[in-house]
Amino acid sequence: MGYNGERRDRVDATATAGLAGKRILLGITGGIAAYKAAELARLVVKAGADLRVVMTASACRFVTPVTMQGLSGNPVYTDMWDPGVPNNMAHIELSRDRDLIVVAPATADFMAKLAHGLADDLLATLCLARECPLAIAPAMNRQMWEHPATQRNLATLRADGIAVFGPAPGDQACGEVGMGRMLEAAEIFAELAAMTGPKRLAGKRVLVTAGPTFEPIDTVRGITNLSSGKMGFAVAQAAAEAGAEVTLVAGPTPLAAPPGVARRDVVTAREMHDAVMGLAPRADVFVAVAAVSDYRVANPRQTKLKKDGGPPRIELTENPDILAAVAALPQAPFCVGFAAETENLREYAQAKRRKKGVPLLAANLAHEAFGRDDNALTLFDDAGEHALARAPKIVLARKLVAHIAAMLGKR
Ligand code: C5P
Repeated sequence: MGYNGERRDRVDATATAGLAGKRILLGITGGIAAYKAAELARLVVKAGADLRVVMTASACRFVTPVTMQGLSGNPVYTDMWDPGVPNNMAHIELSRDRDLIVVAPATADFMAKLAHGLADDLLATLCLARECPLAIAPAMNRQMWEHPATQRNLATLRADGIAVFGPAPGDQACGEVGMGRMLEAAEIFAELAAMTGPKRLAGKRVLVTAGPTFEPIDTVRGITNLSSGKMGFAVAQAAAEAGAEVTLVAGPTPLAAPPGVARRDVVTAREMHDAVMGLAPRADVFVAVAAVSDYRVANPRQTKLKKDGGPPRIELTENPDILAAVAALPQAPFCVGFAAETENLREYAQAKRRKKGVPLLAANLAHEAFGRDDNALTLFDDAGEHALARAPKIVLARKLVAHIAAMLGKR
């Protein structure tokens, strides 16, 4: 998640540490994006991982096993019946000693196979026989991606706990433009590094709020805001990757919960408040990313408002401040606030941090953050301010989580 289609070929050097010494299996299926798998193999090997490559018959039409053998420094497997594998059990042998399997590109056909547990070639079989985590980087024409069958399979794969990297929107090999382009090799590499990276929040319980709230005016209308939930969902994902037990309290958003994250859906600020206050006493860390409505309608109508009679008078009343309430608990978790401002970011953010009584506050400019896949953040804490340059929200979320873990370590 979190990529907007721009090329990002640079690799964050600090992200490579987790892959050193890891045993990775790269599966390649038959799509034009297979050429990017060669670069991915190079990055993974350069990071110090032991890489094995398995290719389907179609993949061999796009890149050669010789290329992948040269880059991985290991024999490449393409055949279920390879007599060179001990016991003739390539599917078992190849999957059992791996820390992670990544299939890039994963075609629509391969996703369908995985979703249904088919095992009619070496790669599909070893994915079924594996004991380690599995990630896929889909790549296909936009119509194939948007087809209800592919979307059904995608939902099944996510529900099965398979990590899905991308795809991104952009130019496609067929000449069309749309969703389905495989992430760049460096982007897939960053996802792998995050999955295998240090578990900085192992043993911690992290509670995150995300998305907008919706305050009813009548039975069909309400007050809400433009928050997409993407930043909060990215924080939840980054915390889960860092080994935390994560609960995400989400306002109305169509986003899918990241793998391994428990989700509570709420609509209004008061529902979010009640859910959070129930969970906060057990939490070690609370990250309030949600754009909570400051006000709600005092007396929402139980029927649809009619136009006759002139414009209605809508009386507003204040909502509870969830973050301030959690920060004021006697055994408060480590609290992190977010501030979306339209101007004077520094002064407003510092003032908000003091007013809410939180040790860490992440500030962004609302018009540069809401609804977008990327963002730029400035972190404010007792030590001063730390600028995080514009990047996909998941990249920023991982940096925020690393900062939280470092602050927790010093407490
Ligand atoms: O005061 P403001 O809404 O700008 O503060 C933003 C921060 O406070 C965010 O972390 C947001 O999730 C949190 N907040 C809250 N409850 C509210 C309003 C804001 O938890 N009612």
